[in-house]
Amino acid sequence: MIRIAPSLLAADPARLGEQIDAVTAAGADWLHLDVMDGTFVPNLSFGPQVVRACRDRTDATLDVHLMVHAPERWLEPFARAGADRLTVHAEPVWHLHRCLDDVRALGMKTGLAVNPLTPLEVVRDALPLLDLVLVMSVDPGYGGQRWIEGTAERLARVRAWRDRSRPDALIEVDGGIDADTAAVAAKAGADVLVAGSAVFGSDDVASALRQLHERASQARGPA
Ligand code: DX5
Ligand code: ZN
Repeated sequence: MIRIAPSLLAADPARLGEQIDAVTAAGADWLHLDVMDGTFVPNLSFGPQVVRACRDRTDATLDVHLMVHAPERWLEPFARAGADRLTVHAEPVWHLHRCLDDVRALGMKTGLAVNPLTPLEVVRDALPLLDLVLVMSVDPGYGGQRWIEGTAERLARVRAWRDRSRPDALIEVDGGIDADTAAVAAKAGADVLVAGSAVFGSDDVASALRQLHERASQARGPA
């Protein structure tokens, strides 16, 4: 099953509640929350208080993507804020096994994200601890960037490992997802497609979500 997770980074911060209502009413049951600290990525976004506001607004799954240089410091505040899933990047974490254990101990689903040229072997070795793998298709930090060629091959490698050793883990792809790259990503093995500008940049979020889902589902083929 293919899922589209709208990224609130691309939403209008002055109308966040309305935009959450618009995408959830259109069938989105995950919200992707891009947390940026201005150190691990060259941009600042929002913190636990926005996650708490989203939690109070919707029952949708809050899929929090920590693009921060010391994620182990932030696990508890985001758990308290109501995150359902917490994805940390492999690159800045020195003690990844402990960090993922701590995410799970706080009652959240674990996720591991890798940047476009980070060796994938860390994903293979971490799979037993993972509920989700996030394969970045852009260099993190901004919405509206272009899909990086070569991401499909990376998704296919992760899918082979996942199918063999962790069939319940989800594969998520993030960055540059539009109607065309949604098909490429789904065909290569992505289960969850994060989309920011393709959704919130559209003047009809419902039809944007529908189009992404249709293109991805067609490309993925029968379950
Ligand atoms: C980038 C973020 C992505 C981004 C996606 O660092 O992790 O989630 O918001 O935005 P689009 O879909 O516009 O590329
Ligand atoms: Zn993201």
